[in-house]
Amino acid sequence: MSRAIITPTGRPLHGSPKLPGDKSISHRRALLSLYVDGDVVLENYSDGQDCQTTLSCLERLGKRVERTDNRVVLTGPAVSSNGELDCGNSGTTARLLMGILAGREGEWILRGDESLSRRPMERVADPLRRMGAQITTAGGRLPAWISGRKLHGIAYDSSLASAQVKSAVLLAALSAEGVTRYHEPFPSRYHTERILGISADGEGWITLDPARTRVETDRLSAVVPGDPSAAAFWVAAVVLVADSSLEMRGVLANPIRLSYLDALKSAGVRVLIRDEYASYGETVATIEAQYSPIGCFNLGRENVPGVIDELPVLAVMSACSDGISTFHGVSELRRKESNRLQLLAEGLTRMGALAEHDEDSLTIRGGALHGAEIETHGDHRIAMAFAVAALAAKGNSVIQDVECVAVSYPDFWEELDRMVPGSVKIEL
Ligand code: S3P
Repeated sequence: MSRAIITPTGRPLHGSPKLPGDKSISHRRALLSLYVDGDVVLENYSDGQDCQTTLSCLERLGKRVERTDNRVVLTGPAVSSNGELDCGNSGTTARLLMGILAGREGEWILRGDESLSRRPMERVADPLRRMGAQITTAGGRLPAWISGRKLHGIAYDSSLASAQVKSAVLLAALSAEGVTRYHEPFPSRYHTERILGISADGEGWITLDPARTRVETDRLSAVVPGDPSAAAFWVAAVVLVADSSLEMRGVLANPIRLSYLDALKSAGVRVLIRDEYASYGETVATIEAQYSPIGCFNLGRENVPGVIDELPVLAVMSACSDGISTFHGVSELRRKESNRLQLLAEGLTRMGALAEHDEDSLTIRGGALHGAEIETHGDHRIAMAFAVAALAAKGNSVIQDVECVAVSYPDFWEELDRMVPGSVKIEL
């Protein structure tokens, strides 16, 4: 396991970091190719391991997958009707595949790595069983055994705001008999709906009628925009390091995915979204950010689904602000690639902030941070969030398990060293 020594050089960040293609959109467009036989061409497909895992699963299912740099071509029918699928570290791969396979004839086993095998799967298996699926989990976790069969539509009022659960049900609904209706307590990211051409009504119910929802090959091909969740680390870094500024072009500007910028604006940070244009059913834009004083955050349960992947970096920013920030309704952070709530509180406390958490909330009193040794438990977003904290701290920090960033952002350390030369040393 390698570690990164981060040295806050005091030099500002400038430039335009290279971003991976959006992870959620890469997964969805690739997985939806299972519903068509023609060529699906995806440009700027995410080079993160999670999205490569999705491609390997598609290959196992019999799709032909050609990869050249970040261009992926998916062809032909999924011919395999049984087998084991290794979902690696990727919750999106496992949960969306569960929805897709539950309604197809065949027998499959979904497996995951150590981290994914600790994450809850009943949240997906339960609504799918109500649709008639036969799924057995290992005590609510992976491995999961799926015996695919014809499903029927349901009305499901979910207690969780989760895009993965919602997408699994909608993908299952595509091949089910009859209409499916789905509701969640607060809106989560809605890329699946956008690709399928459906949306929530005024009361938040999403209706999918398989007789009217056709997945068409030419509507799946796309240029994947830059990942705004990867961009968040750079926005945070320039806001925290004196005299920094940057510009990122071609970033996915779907409003729910830019909720973290709204949170920053309400904490007094100046960020600009400009040059917006429509691209393959989404909005894409340029994000401009610069060094800025930062106030406190006060996020409630209703804000959490929109910033679910940016909470680690928002927590880091709050630790660098003067005052007390509160994050309510964040228990889902315990169920991500690691127990993020605990790792954030521990790491930020080590760096000199006062961070406390209970089952469902996180409170941080910010101040001047100092360097520390940080455990990541192999969680990519924890590693990158603490790299940002380390840049804004006094003295060197050590970040463990640095390879884990490859899950979503393989070039992160190179880009960091390019943005702030001399700030990163990787020790094998
Ligand atoms: C994702 C949804 C989010 C997010 C994950 C990707 C998706 O999870 O944390 O990184 O692509 O659907 P939930 O909305 O299921 O919590």
